[in-house]
Amino acid sequence: MNRLFYSLLLLTYFSVTSSVSADDGYRLWLNYDLITDAPKRQSYAQSAQFIAVTSSSPILKSAAEELQMGLLGLLGKAIPVIATAGNQTGGIQLTVVAPPAASDQSITKEGYRIASRSGNVQITSQSDAGVLYGVFAFLRQMQTGQSIEKLSLTSNPKVQYRMLNHWDNVDGSVERGYAGSSLWKWYELPERIDPRYRDYARANASLGINGTVVNNVNASARFMTGEYLQKVAALANVFRPYGIRVYLSVYFAAPKTLGGLKTSDPLDPQVRQWWNDKVKEIYQIIPDFGGFLVKANSEGEPGPQDYGRTHADGANMLAKALKPYDGVVIWRAFVYKADGKSDRFKAAYDEFTPLDGQFDKKVIVQVKNGPIDFQPREPFSPLFGNMPKTPLGMEFQLTQEYLGFATHAVYEAPIFKECLEADTYVNGTGSTVAKVVDGSLHSYTRTVMAGVANTGSSRNWTGHPLAQANWYAFGRLAWDHTLTSEAIAREWVQMTLTHEPQAVNRIVNLMLKSREIYVNYNTPLGLSRPWTGVHFAPEPWQNRSSRPDWTAVYYHKADSAGLGFDRTSTGSNALAQYRPEVQRQWNNSETCPLPYLLWFHHVPWTKKLSTGRTLWDELCTRFYTGADSVRWMQQEWAQVKGAVDPDIHADVAARLITQHKEAIWWRDAWVLYLQTFSKQPVPSPFKQPERTLDEVKRSVDIYLLR
Ligand code: GCU
Repeated sequence: MNRLFYSLLLLTYFSVTSSVSADDGYRLWLNYDLITDAPKRQSYAQSAQFIAVTSSSPILKSAAEELQMGLLGLLGKAIPVIATAGNQTGGIQLTVVAPPAASDQSITKEGYRIASRSGNVQITSQSDAGVLYGVFAFLRQMQTGQSIEKLSLTSNPKVQYRMLNHWDNVDGSVERGYAGSSLWKWYELPERIDPRYRDYARANASLGINGTVVNNVNASARFMTGEYLQKVAALANVFRPYGIRVYLSVYFAAPKTLGGLKTSDPLDPQVRQWWNDKVKEIYQIIPDFGGFLVKANSEGEPGPQDYGRTHADGANMLAKALKPYDGVVIWRAFVYKADGKSDRFKAAYDEFTPLDGQFDKKVIVQVKNGPIDFQPREPFSPLFGNMPKTPLGMEFQLTQEYLGFATHAVYEAPIFKECLEADTYVNGTGSTVAKVVDGSLHSYTRTVMAGVANTGSSRNWTGHPLAQANWYAFGRLAWDHTLTSEAIAREWVQMTLTHEPQAVNRIVNLMLKSREIYVNYNTPLGLSRPWTGVHFAPEPWQNRSSRPDWTAVYYHKADSAGLGFDRTSTGSNALAQYRPEVQRQWNNSETCPLPYLLWFHHVPWTKKLSTGRTLWDELCTRFYTGADSVRWMQQEWAQVKGAVDPDIHADVAARLITQHKEAIWWRDAWVLYLQTFSKQPVPSPFKQPERTLDEVKRSVDIYLLR
């Protein structure tokens, strides 16, 4: 049977590869291209003469299959799968060790160990999924050219629930998605299973991602119908052999709209019964269902406050319904009121910290990295550290809502790391956000890291070829937040784009600089731009909306005196939500680090900054050098032509042209608009934009036409 499986695999592999003439990016970082360094390939091959796998569980089958496929590609050699190594040496053994007999307590449930022992490479874990993760790690060793002799590698995930959140809708659209339509073909499911679902699962498993919320947080009750649960179950069946559980976003008013009840009040017995029954139905259809993600009383979504109840009341009702099962409630803290008088920055903290200690054990509160909304640069959310009795999960955004959609190259690992490494000082120096999220600071029993997915039906999954690195980086950091942005970028480039050392260095360098370049032309010195309208286009003049905190002027507060949002005690006093040590760093405009300056201070145009320039001159310098740096990115990218697949190279090169055009657009919009307040010339050596403010406005208006 193994032989049959093995020849089938060969057939599939070749039918796939033979049709691939150039790299279209579909294979992501799992391209398993032949290792061209022959001595290295031969040395790997010596340790990979067979794969021994004792159990035939679905996940181990995936593991063996992946290993076989990977080795076939990397080594150009078909490696047999056998049941037991017996006395043979020179192979790879995949073994699940029972916890009681586990000789090595340093491995946690999903962790793995890769060790050379008794002439074989042993990949062991206490769980099937752990072995699968070990297999991917082993392949990664070869994909990145590391030695596999005398391997001794142990790795445990630092966070328990490592998830993608898809903002995918029933109609196939993706909210804030820039990579085509949804991956999920709801009208074809459950009968037709797109082969892509499995490749999606493989890619996630290769990073250790173990959960996926398939639908948008602005949820449709349709997902709670029997009809749609069957479709979701079909996805779950594909994901299960890769250790991935499915979760659903909840429409809180479903008892009313779908159940026909008079209310969706979480304390109403009928409502509670409705959820109990619904959960029971879900588990009958999807036995390993992961749980619910909830956006409630936020941006018009229904929630418990509609009935005078709290977030805790709502979350606990769902937690009760999930009690008989191994599912959790992930309740989002992304909330803000519409009064416009308060500072939106403070809203989540104000609503959630009084509820600390009131949530059921099954509830995790999921917090966006910053207090506002996935801005190119934000200070960390003050909720981190301030809810010691409630597990707080991290929500990052991979899709580039505020990062230039699919045409700007922005490597996001530095954004994630900046937040994770920020010190909350809650239990003294070193109380980083990472330690809150991984549970070590407050001994949380559950830990979550979620990424709002950037995937879609684009052939290369993410639209911008370099945006694949953001999916990759998120997964790697969810597994181990201590990895560096550079190490992750290096892995990704080698696994995906090229092994040519100079090209690797160049691309990694470009990636590492890309976020700061974007911030410079888009939101320098702590500007932010969560206004509504065209998220894609600059509109700093936007001052009309159904609510004040959806205008641009609410955030940047430009006036004749200066620029920035005073969040010190003379202003909204949002800074008071942080510990004194943090306040001390940020509450003095003289010493506040420049990246956060305008987040916390209204600064006079003529104020001299630590750079020696005035605020106005510094802003201009950043807008102009930021936009110019995209030219540098273009030049660097041109240098790696020849080392990267020609189609991918051309794709990125074209997007960099758009990026440059748009960077100048952002620069001109900000400079011309802010100049109406600063009344100052653009400092030399920079030149006044060639167009007028009205011309820029007209170019933005195009995007408002319907
Ligand atoms: C942002 C985004 C919305 C999204 C919301 C959320 O406001 O623009 O599309 O629904 O975040 O995270 O809930």
